[in-house]
Amino acid sequence: MIEFTEEQKKAISDAQEKFSSIKDNPDLLSESQLDLLFGQARSMNGWKDKDISDEMLHSLYELVKMGPTSTNSCPARFVFIKSSEMKEKIKDALLPNNVEKCMTAPVITIIGYDLDFSDHMGKLFPHMDVAPMYKGNVDMNLSTAFRNSSLQGAYLMIIARAMGLDCGPMSGFNNELVDELFFSDSNIKSNFLCCLGYGDPSKIFFRLPRLEFDEVCKII
Ligand SMILES: Cc1cc2nc3c(=O)[nH]c(=O)nc-3n(C[C@H](O)[C@H](O)[C@H](O)COP(=O)(O)O)c2cc1C
Repeated sequence: MIEFTEEQKKAISDAQEKFSSIKDNPDLLSESQLDLLFGQARSMNGWKDKDISDEMLHSLYELVKMGPTSTNSCPARFVFIKSSEMKEKIKDALLPNNVEKCMTAPVITIIGYDLDFSDHMGKLFPHMDVAPMYKGNVDMNLSTAFRNSSLQGAYLMIIARAMGLDCGPMSGFNNELVDELFFSDSNIKSNFLCCLGYGDPSKIFFRLPRLEFDEVCKII
């Protein structure tokens, strides 16, 4: 049983008062907005010549950081590559078919996970000392970092789309080389890349089929 301080109890009651359930919100996304975000949006292979401002990347992160992660661990780390110099640096790590689409993207995001994420648990989960649970279990530490950084990468893509950006996610690259080039002074490892920008429709590939409800879902 967790013993909350008076300050934490107050923070809980404030949060409960402030919370507005999505279903009660009159601004619920319309079906056509949902369809734009999830149905019509595509993975991009080419880009219009239009930059993304640093302010927009800050606004993007302000929403990404609010997405749920286990024990609020927030293990993802994001490197937004905008400069030609840093694009040249990552070039050698890319599979050949990913080079052109990355080099022409306004932003290449490296979504990484910090294996030392539990160093921040005092701030992120102050009511319980969970850091030793991660520090003492290598497998759990890795699975938590990988699982939650993948989720945070997905939040990034969906929020970017909601902000009017297009995404080009990529795992076709040499993770070890990216880690060596960008994260050598830390315990951060790369998970996947996501190019961001305004997509060039002329580079879109045909839509691949998806699995139907009965093939992958069960209601029990
Ligand atoms: C984690 C991840 C890795 C991917 N890796 C690559 C990649 O290396 N190169 C590439 O061209 N597309 C890559 N894709 C794009 C997928 O092929 C694409 O999202 C999928 O075919 C669906 O396309 P659609 O969103 O246009 O329907 C990747 C997507 C994800 C989510």
